[in-house]
Amino acid sequence: MSSPPYLYRPHSDGPTAPQRITVVGAGFMGAQIALQAACFGFETVLYDIEGQALTRARDQLAEFAQAMIDEQVFAGQVVVEALAGLCLTNRLARAAEADLVLESVPEQLELKRRVFAEFDAACPPHTLFATNSSSLVPSQICRTGGRPGQFAALHFHPLVWYANLVEVMPHPGTEPRVTAALAAFAEALGQKVIVMETEHNGYVFNTMFNAFNRAALSLASRGIARIDQIDEAWLTVMRTPRGPFQQMDIVGLKTVYHINELWARLSGDPQLQRNAAFVKQYLDAARYGRNVGAGFYDYDDDGLISGLSDVAPNRQVRL
Ligand SMILES: NC(=O)c1ccc[n+]([C@@H]2O[C@H](COP(=O)([O-])OP(=O)(O)OC[C@H]3O[C@@H](n4cnc5c(N)ncnc54)[C@H](O)[C@@H]3O)[C@@H](O)[C@H]2O)c1
Repeated sequence: MSSPPYLYRPHSDGPTAPQRITVVGAGFMGAQIALQAACFGFETVLYDIEGQALTRARDQLAEFAQAMIDEQVFAGQVVVEALAGLCLTNRLARAAEADLVLESVPEQLELKRRVFAEFDAACPPHTLFATNSSSLVPSQICRTGGRPGQFAALHFHPLVWYANLVEVMPHPGTEPRVTAALAAFAEALGQKVIVMETEHNGYVFNTMFNAFNRAALSLASRGIARIDQIDEAWLTVMRTPRGPFQQMDIVGLKTVYHINELWARLSGDPQLQRNAAFVKQYLDAARYGRNVGAGFYDYDDDGLISGLSDVAPNRQVRL
């Protein structure tokens, strides 16, 4: 019998970049990154302030682990051992014992600044810091202090083992050795790495992706077409596996909302405000995305689309 076509194999030489990793924020992205790091043999801690978030993360990690095995990303034994070795904690002192602290808390500038200030005070001097922010740039986050030279963005894409692109975004004060170490770490996680030339909100992929989502949301919030029709239009012509609303359901509508709300506020553009208000209707109905079985679409237990939400079937949003 031939061996299954695993996408990755665990590191044979052992990682050269930071070895003890703490991922801060045990949500959708944090859990994926932590599991991926553990599968590649890194000593990994997943930290959250909320006890309940850690309970939710255990379920989510089990789902991600199963998906990795089903999709033949790693051998089952590797995933099982990685899961067993992953340390979930809400003790800051434990989480601070790391060579790299990678933050993946909600997309709120003040919160991210607070998290880095806390870890800066608690971590040993050599610890590197990185943010997984989708739209904030590192110089914004480290402006209020900390250790800016040891800080850059390390931006992952969901699902981490499948959409395996990481953008490393240093800011002007990031030490080159830090950029190199972060790039080496991302490569050791089986990621294709782009080290960006300059800071840019939206990074590389999301700059294109956000423009595309913005267009899709504008069509829906203006009542021009239903979301399933907009997805259908894209899928039929582009022959991609998912349309924009299906993809946004995977990203999670809280994140989609935070990004749209941020840009609506910064630009004052009425259409962007309408788009943020459109997404907000789904949050108000506790439809946070595929993760919870309900977003723009309804999902069955296998995560497959089972219907269309009736939150805003074809209603124009008026501000
Ligand atoms: N969702 C995506 O597709 C995606 C992709 C790339 C990057 N990102 C970025 O990753 C970050 C997290 O997004 P997410 O979708 O995983 O969010 P999420 O809401 O699923 O998870 C965030 C977690 O952070 C925890 N948290 C909040 N405050 C904290 C604190 N002070 N200390 C420790 N933990 C804290 C929350 O309890 C929660 O478990 C955001 O910056 C987002 O822009 C998201």
